[in-house]
Amino acid sequence: MRDGFGRDISYLRLSVTDRCNYRCRYCMPAEGVCKRRREEILSVEDCIAVAAAAAACGVTKVRVTGGEPLVRRGIVEICRGIAALPQIRELCLTTNGSLLPQLAGPLREAGVDRLNISLDTLRPTRFAALTRGGRLEDALAGLAAAEAAGFRQLKLNVVLLGGVNDDEIADFAALTREKPWQVRFIELMPMGPCADWPRERFLSADAVLSRCPALQPVGASGVAELYRLPGAAGTVGLIRPLSHRFCGGCDRIRVTADGRLKPCLHQAAEYPLRGLRGEALEAAIRAAVAAKPRGHRLADEGHSRAQRDMNEIGG
Ligand code: 5AD
Ligand code: SF4
Repeated sequence: MRDGFGRDISYLRLSVTDRCNYRCRYCMPAEGVCKRRREEILSVEDCIAVAAAAAACGVTKVRVTGGEPLVRRGIVEICRGIAALPQIRELCLTTNGSLLPQLAGPLREAGVDRLNISLDTLRPTRFAALTRGGRLEDALAGLAAAEAAGFRQLKLNVVLLGGVNDDEIADFAALTREKPWQVRFIELMPMGPCADWPRERFLSADAVLSRCPALQPVGASGVAELYRLPGAAGTVGLIRPLSHRFCGGCDRIRVTADGRLKPCLHQAAEYPLRGLRGEALEAAIRAAVAAKPRGHRLADEGHSRAQRDMNEIGG
């Protein structure tokens, strides 16, 4: 499916809930989100129908996101339904990992191919402060459960927070010496609760290269520039939503938990899909893709125009 600028749209990011069991300071307000009512949220059947219609339009890769997708009732059924779609070659899921001890096995069995686990610190006290009450040991148990369930080549997402976790860059990179993981450092995007944070919180991904001078460039994978420590089993990825633009090669669309298609993460435009089925659903997806903007102006404007927070869009 081509958009108005000739980009091939093949990747759907589907948010299945706006809720989360953590309250990360850059992502959610302390009091949590003003939760959408259950009837506003896509049902299990709606989620599968949206993925099926997107697949009929040419989508071959789906990522399930949140909020935290593993707090969603029916998450295993949603994944099983999407994995069964013949056009879908890759089903991925992004999670904070805390519920993987119970769910890694069922998700693997349901047909999830790959997991991305968000983990911003390896220090227990800092973890509790950053997530407002989460426990590092749960996240680490989740990582172990993912490996035990047979998920290989895990991706770890680390959001760079200047003055908060930049002293751990070398520790995170060192994990790749033994583990065949891709540890990805992501520049903090000024949206939601962190939109008005001081400048020093927003670090360029170049900080990773200066902290780890041994890193050697080894190409790219999707939106990540890849590096490797000499002899390491895994790789280090840099994702620069701010300092580099990947709009020209953008292949994705997003659907929020309440069933609105966002052609661009950082623009306000949304196209409601909830309640549509079959050809009407496909037609709505095609119309939204045709209206996908050329790109965002995050670097010029210094803020996102998403008008929603990450917990609703899923990154
Ligand atoms: N900037 C960059 N990444 C973010 N995430 C959430 N908010 C931001 C932000 N402002 C990432 C986190 C989260 C995932 C869903 O999206 O890693 O876990
Ligand atoms: Fe694509 Fe919009 Fe993200 Fe740019 S900002 S890469 S156009 S989704």
